[in-house]
Amino acid sequence: MKFDLSDDQAAIRDAVRDFAQGVVAPQAAAIDHENRFPGDLVRQAAELDLLGIVIPSEYSGAGLDHICFALLIEELAAVSGTLAVIVDVHTSVGSEPILHFGSEEQKHRYLPRLARGEILGAFALSEPDYGSDAAHLVASARSVPGGYRLSGTKTFITNVGEAGLYIVMARLDGEPGAGGISAFLVESDMAGVRCGEPMHKMGLRGSSTGELVLDNVEVPEQNLLGHRGEGFKIAMRALDSGRIGISAQAVGLARGALDLATSYSAERRQFGQAISRFEGIQFMVADLATAIDASRLMTWEAAAACDAGRPFTQLAAMAKLMSTDTAMRVTTDAVQILGGYGYIKEFPAERYMRDAKATQIYEGTNQIQRVVIARELLKRG
Ligand code: CAA
Repeated sequence: MKFDLSDDQAAIRDAVRDFAQGVVAPQAAAIDHENRFPGDLVRQAAELDLLGIVIPSEYSGAGLDHICFALLIEELAAVSGTLAVIVDVHTSVGSEPILHFGSEEQKHRYLPRLARGEILGAFALSEPDYGSDAAHLVASARSVPGGYRLSGTKTFITNVGEAGLYIVMARLDGEPGAGGISAFLVESDMAGVRCGEPMHKMGLRGSSTGELVLDNVEVPEQNLLGHRGEGFKIAMRALDSGRIGISAQAVGLARGALDLATSYSAERRQFGQAISRFEGIQFMVADLATAIDASRLMTWEAAAACDAGRPFTQLAAMAKLMSTDTAMRVTTDAVQILGGYGYIKEFPAERYMRDAKATQIYEGTNQIQRVVIARELLKRG
C-alpha cells in the first residue's frame, strides 16, 4: 500500500492550492455575503483545466484519477465551499454518467464542452415529494415519434440556471419502480425547460440551487442516456462517485476551519498567554486533526477503489458519512475556539459551519448513507 501522492497528484494539489489560496480565498466572503454565483472563478478554473479532471484527454479532459478529483475539491473547499460544490457537481454527477453510460456519439457531443467548461453540468433526480426515496420519483417521460416528451418538477438542483446540460431521471411510459426510470440528457435551451427562483440557503450561498421545471420538453431519441429503464442505476452509480466528491468537500471545509482555529488560538491571548497553550484547546485541536486525517484517508480509499474498478459503493458511503460528520464537528468547534469572534461574519468560522451542514444532507443524507452501508455489508454477510 502506498500513501504518497504520485507526481501528477502532487502537481494538481499544488496548482489548485495556489489558485484557491491566491485567487479564490480573497473573494470567498463576498461571494457568501452577496449570494453571488462566482462565474468568473468558474471560468478561471476552466482555463486551468480543472473542469474535466476525470474526463479522458480524447474528450478534452485532463484524464486524471479520482484522487486528483478529491484533491481538487478539498483544496477548493478549504477556502470556498461554494466553488467546491459547483465544480464537484459539474464533474461527478453532472458529467461522469455520460462517460460511463453514454454512446460514443453522446460522449463526443457533450464531454469536450463539459471538460472545457463551455457548459456546466447538473443532475436532476430529487423531486418535491421524492428525495431520499428516489426510486418512486414521478417526473414523466412519454415515448413520442423521434424521442420523448418530459414533464415534471425536479428540485434541489445544484447549478440550476447556470448549467447548460441536465442529466434528468424520469419515469418512462408509466413503468413502475426503480426499473421504470430512464435518464435523459436535457439541454438548458430546449423548449419547455424552466428554472425556478434560486433558493435562499443557510450556506453555500454562491452556488445556485432550485427547481428545474420540465413542461412538455421534447427530447430527441439520441438523448436517452444508457438503456431504457437504466436510469436509477445510472443515478446510483453517479452518486457513488459524487459521494467521493462530497466527502472531499467536507474534508476541505474541516481543514480550512481547523487552520483558522489553530492560527487564531496561537494569536489570541487570555490570562496572560496564547489560548493555544491551554490543554482545553490543545486536546480539542488534536482530536479534530485526527478526525480530518481519518476522513481524508477514507475518501482516498474510496477514490482508489473507484479508479481500480473495484466495488466502492460502501466505501464512498462510509467516507461521506465520516467526513461530513467530521466537517460539522470541526467547524462547530472552530466557532467555539474563536468564541465571540467565531459567531460574527467578520471571521469565516461561521461560514465554514453553515457550509458544512449541507454536506450531511445532499447526495444522500447521512441516514441514507447508513442504509447503503448496512445493505452492502449484509448483502455480503
Ligand atoms: N449502483 C448501481 N446500482 C444500484 C446501486 C448502485 N450504487 N444502488 C442500487 N442499485 C440498483 C439495485 O441493485 C437495484 O437493482 P435491481 O432491481 O436490478 O436489483 C435497483 O438499483 C434499486 O435499488 P434498491 O432496491 O436498493 O432501491 P431503494 O428504493 O431501496 O433505494 C437508496 C435505495 C439507497 C435509498 C436510494 O434511493 C438512494 O440512494 N437514495 C438517496 C438519493 C440521493 O442521494 N439523492 C440526492 C440527489 S442529488 C443532490 O443531492 C443534489 C445535487 O444537485 C447533487
